[in-house]
Amino acid sequence: MVARQRVMGRYVWWFCLGTLVVNLSPSCSAVILESIYWNSSNPKFSPGQGLVLFPQIGDKMDIVCPRVRPGVVENKDPEYYRVYLVTREQLHSCSIGQSDTPLLNCDKPDRDVKFTFKFQEFSPNLWGLEFLKGREYYITSTSTSSLQGLDNTDGGVCRATSMKLVLRVGQKRMRVSAKLFITCV
Ligand SMILES: *[C@@H]1O[C@H](CO)[C@@H](O)[C@H](O)[C@H]1NC(C)=O
Repeated sequence: MVARQRVMGRYVWWFCLGTLVVNLSPSCSAVILESIYWNSSNPKFSPGQGLVLFPQIGDKMDIVCPRVRPGVVENKDPEYYRVYLVTREQLHSCSIGQSDTPLLNCDKPDRDVKFTFKFQEFSPNLWGLEFLKGREYYITSTSTSSLQGLDNTDGGVCRATSMKLVLRVGQKRMRVSAKLFITCV
């Protein structure tokens, strides 16, 4: 009986260790994160808050423009956006400056258009973005989603539907530690 309990104990211990390794691996190595679809049907943009993500240095992630599929009858009009990397203040006020340059121009809904983030601290490309560990980066659009509102610089979908993205680079993914706690304690 005692021997059997000891074997069981050892099994549980190995199980925990195994789970620990599996769960930690995504935060240790570079991963390709789920793409962010920049459109009004995306339920990940939660009202008032937008979407908060925790990419790690080395990870990659795409932001994908709305795409009208040929031959598919949509019950919605095509959507048009200019998507910007903004400051914290701009994210809160939902305003874009006249001289700001969009990261992504979603003005051709019949084509596949996307922007790929590579969360690297040093970019070999002169115009490449660099991300510092522990910093936050903010992305939004003040377009209204219609073609006429593409160049709108105040409010837009940032204010109306919280199409905002906060990237907390290099910070701990809360989900990982929560999972470990449930499995091993
Ligand atoms: C909108 O986003 C969803 C994912 O949230 C995606 O499946 C869908 O194809 C996107 N629609 C358009 C028009 O791009």
